[in-house]
Order: sequence, then C-alpha cells, then structure tokens
Amino acid sequence: MGSGGMCGPPSEVRRVLLVGFMGSGKTRVGQALARRLGWSFRDFDQEVRARAGLPIPDIFRQHGEAAFRDMEERVGADLLLEDRVVLASGGGWPAALGRMEELPEGTLSVWLRVLPEEAVRRAREEGPTRPLLAVPDPVARARQILAEREACYGKAHLALDSMEAGPEELARIIERFVNERRAEGVEPSSP
Ligand code: S3P
Repeated sequence: MGSGGMCGPPSEVRRVLLVGFMGSGKTRVGQALARRLGWSFRDFDQEVRARAGLPIPDIFRQHGEAAFRDMEERVGADLLLEDRVVLASGGGWPAALGRMEELPEGTLSVWLRVLPEEAVRRAREEGPTRPLLAVPDPVARARQILAEREACYGKAHLALDSMEAGPEELARIIERFVNERRAEGVEPSSP
C-alpha cells in the first residue's frame, strides 16, 4: 500500500472514491466495499449511461469524447455530494485539471493499480465496452494513456495493487482503513 495524497486522508470518511485505469476493478471492488460498509454504490459510467440513455461506446460514436467528458463531469459533481457512498469513477475522470485536488471534504480517494497488459486482458473479457481501447494495438494505447494519467491517479490517498488481491480482499483493506478513520473522527462522548 502506498500513499500519495496531496492532503492527507479525511479525518472522518463519508464517501470513498475509487479511481484507476479501465479494468482496474473499480466496479467490483466498489460493490464489495459498499456491501461491507452498508453504504450505497454508485458508478459514474452507469450514471452517464442512464442519463444519456445510451451505452458509452454509442455516446463516443454519436456525440464524441468531449460530450462524454462533459456528462462525466456533471455526474461526478452530483455523485460526490452523496454521503455513505462508494463511488467508482470512470478511468478518465481524475485526469482533468484539479479533480483530485478538489475532492469534497470527507472523501477518501483510492487508486487501484493495474498494468496495461492486464487492463487490456480484463477489458477484452468484458467485450467492446471501452471505445478508447478499440484500436489495433490496445496494449500500446493503454500504456500511453496510463503514462499520461499516472500522476493524477497518484494523488489518491491510498494506492492498492489490484493484481495482488481479489476484489473482496481489496475491499477488506479499504474497509479497515475507513473504519479506522471513522473511529478517529468520532468526538469523545461528553460526560
Ligand atoms: C474511460 C474509462 C471508462 C469509460 C470510458 C472512458 C477512460 O470507464 O468512462 O470508456 O477514459 O479511461 P472504466 O474505467 O470504468 O472502464
């Protein structure tokens, strides 16, 4: 586990934001973590899809990536207002200027790390859902995008290797961290 937060983690965690490259396991870990904490789970991509009434590849095709990024920005701003929630951001959300530095108070950010080769392998298993990887050499493309984004992901408070442990184990590690911060954030009861 590493820690690269610009500011330290919140003293009381009200929401967890999972960031990381496509295929890093944000959705699976997020669902497992939400279940463990008894919180709700929200996924930026699912919310964009629901609001647009279109699958992500169709949004890219019909409206272009810039339109997708605008929708993603609005969804992120809305979902980050919720409490007792685990959020899975889209892989590109943290890459916009200032995003990781301007998280609302009470947000614990966690970077799930994955190598480009593994990300592409996992993405392939899920079918053609990632328009950015629909190119002749997806591994080269993944390496390039990851290199561009690594500094942004690295601003998360915690970094966990998604290839060393399964979703349940990763969720357990994050849950422990949240519970520690929860306990620390509780005011001592008055006599
Ligand atoms: C993207 C990642 C995807 C989705 C879109 C763009 C990216 O989300 O938002 O295809 O720019 O990395 P996942 O990380 O959930 O696959």
